[in-house]
Amino acid sequence: MTEPLTREPASRKPILQVRNLVKHFPLTRGILFKKEIGAVKAVDGISFDLYAGETLGIVGESGCGKSTVAKLLMNLEQATSGEVFYKGEDITRLSGRALKAVRRNIQMVFQDPYTSLNPRMTVGDIIGEPFDIHPEVAPKGDRRARVRELLDVVGLNPEYINRYPHQFSGGQRQRIGIARGLALNPEIIICDEPVSALDVSVQAQVVNLMEKLQDEFGLSYVFIAHDLSIVRHISDRVGVMYLGRMAEIGTDTEIYEHPTHPYTQALLSAVPVPDPQARERRERIILTGDVPSPANPPSGCRFRTRCWKAEERCAQETPLLAVPSVFAGSDSPAAHESACHFAAEKDVVGSASVDAA
Ligand SMILES: Nc1ncnc2c1ncn2[C@@H]1O[C@H](COP(=O)(O)OP(=O)(O)OP(=O)(O)O)[C@@H](O)[C@H]1O
Ligand code: SF4
Ligand SMILES: [Mg+2]
Repeated sequence: MTEPLTREPASRKPILQVRNLVKHFPLTRGILFKKEIGAVKAVDGISFDLYAGETLGIVGESGCGKSTVAKLLMNLEQATSGEVFYKGEDITRLSGRALKAVRRNIQMVFQDPYTSLNPRMTVGDIIGEPFDIHPEVAPKGDRRARVRELLDVVGLNPEYINRYPHQFSGGQRQRIGIARGLALNPEIIICDEPVSALDVSVQAQVVNLMEKLQDEFGLSYVFIAHDLSIVRHISDRVGVMYLGRMAEIGTDTEIYEHPTHPYTQALLSAVPVPDPQARERRERIILTGDVPSPANPPSGCRFRTRCWKAEERCAQETPLLAVPSVFAGSDSPAAHESACHFAAEKDVVGSASVDAA
């Protein structure tokens, strides 16, 4: 029997709990006798929860560790330390059958629909491939019917089942990638820049499809992207990463309208705002200097080399991701987790207008 494609409706309990997650890639010298000379601290102590049925957006500049986090959440990369609890079980320590069972419930949709689909496989084989690993979901005789159903679910004609990836547009290919992600009826989908490679006009269609599927199947998403407007459009909560750490995390309103971390404020101040009045009112923050190397990050606060508010304390003391003491007990939207010693609201006016069409 094929399992039903629908799930229980969303609830407000954590489905993933990430605790102090670290991934260091060793830097080596020498060919025969490799000597470790340091490490790229791609992810360096990150904690957050993902609630059942929600979308958690993750934003941050290129190289800040977003894709590495995505891979760690699926145990595609071995964590250096830290934990990822899926329904209370630490998946960083799982292997073999136990890991396989968990992976069925946590799937991934990748950025590039052009390279992530095997050009020599038909769409039917691509979408049905996960059933080879998990035949219990759709036994052999049921597979084609199941693939047709999945094509229909993502808005593609089930008659396309024998076509090859090159016969589809970018947006259609990403729908195929999503259908494959859905094949095993997962609970969580980790989306790493799922629309970044698509034309702007197609991006909205794919994002809308993802929202529809989330409602239909009670999915939880981790949605990684560069584009702050798209992330706001789809996310319930948003985490802002900088150089392997989480700078700030909160609901979309807290982050976009009441950011308290200077890095978030700088990112938002650079987003184009359609409303000319808001544009005039707001202060544009230009960040100076390059992002430091993750192999040699600054002491204390990682953002201090580019922060206009940096003081001596920022070099000495690492700010923790917590509700800043100035806001403790307040019911202001500024009272959300921010890793800054001097967290404060700043009028990056116009940030309220950052929204996808
Ligand atoms: N396998 C690897 N070996 C060594 N370093 C790596 C490896 N994978 C990633 N890195 C490094 O880790 C850091 C974080 O990379 P990651 O791909 O996670 O960033 P990202 O935020 O996804 O960037 P982008 O927005 O460009 O996709 C980068 O400095 C990258 O060069
Ligand atoms: S801790 Fe200091 S350097 Fe870091 S963001 Fe806050 S003010 Fe800037
Ligand atoms: Mg990436």
